[in-house]
Amino acid sequence: MKLIITKDHEEMSQKAAEIFSNQIKSNPKSILGLATGGTPERMYELLVNLNKSGINDWSGITTFNLDEYIGIEADHSVSYRTYMNENLFSKININLANTHVPKGTGDIELNCKKYDEAILAKGGIDLQVLGIGENAHIAFNEPGSPENGGTSIVNLTESTIQANSRYFKSINDVPKTAITMGIGSILKARKIILLASGVKKAQAIKDMIEGPMTDKVPASFLQKHNDLTIIVDQAAASLLKRT
Ligand code: F6R
Repeated sequence: MKLIITKDHEEMSQKAAEIFSNQIKSNPKSILGLATGGTPERMYELLVNLNKSGINDWSGITTFNLDEYIGIEADHSVSYRTYMNENLFSKININLANTHVPKGTGDIELNCKKYDEAILAKGGIDLQVLGIGENAHIAFNEPGSPENGGTSIVNLTESTIQANSRYFKSINDVPKTAITMGIGSILKARKIILLASGVKKAQAIKDMIEGPMTDKVPASFLQKHNDLTIIVDQAAASLLKRT
């Protein structure tokens, strides 16, 4: 595990964008695993700039997102598909047919099975970016999730519903369930970067890095991965004993 502590969210985003940019340059046909949420928004902006200035060509890139709400249509304003289109896909030269976000409507069990198969058929994810929840969830794998699970349907915890209510008109509109890549699916990625910023994430970062591997702290299972880079700002690193 490699730990990079940055001054702030901006520097964290720059380091993350640089890793993505280098991956795309070294393999223009990379399979990239992407996340939504507030944490990677600036990284996506920087990647859009790198594409516009001709440094990165996304025409051969394939992407797989981590998760989606259940019961929210892909074209809904708060869907993760809409987030990805607005923050990245519509602003770069990627072929939309090569972008994948789990489908939260229709036959969800079947969607789960097909999602893992689709990742496998592409040869697996080369580089995966993750955020982390205040309760140390990764993707929507809440505490108690199995370490070897594949894409599945999950119940969201109150803390996640609360944190995500900022995107909805009212907390009552936040879906209670989601479709998410499992911890097992995530661990198969060849390289993982996890980003966190702000003091609200400090306890989760401490538990993930310095605590035991336990399903109470889903992100702690990342300790098993052999190519993990954690990029956190000083506030998110503030509870770490060793820096
Ligand atoms: C999003 C995802 C989530 C977020 C996490 C942190 O696709 O998988 O695990 O990464 O909830 O969200 P933010 O970045 O909004 O604090």
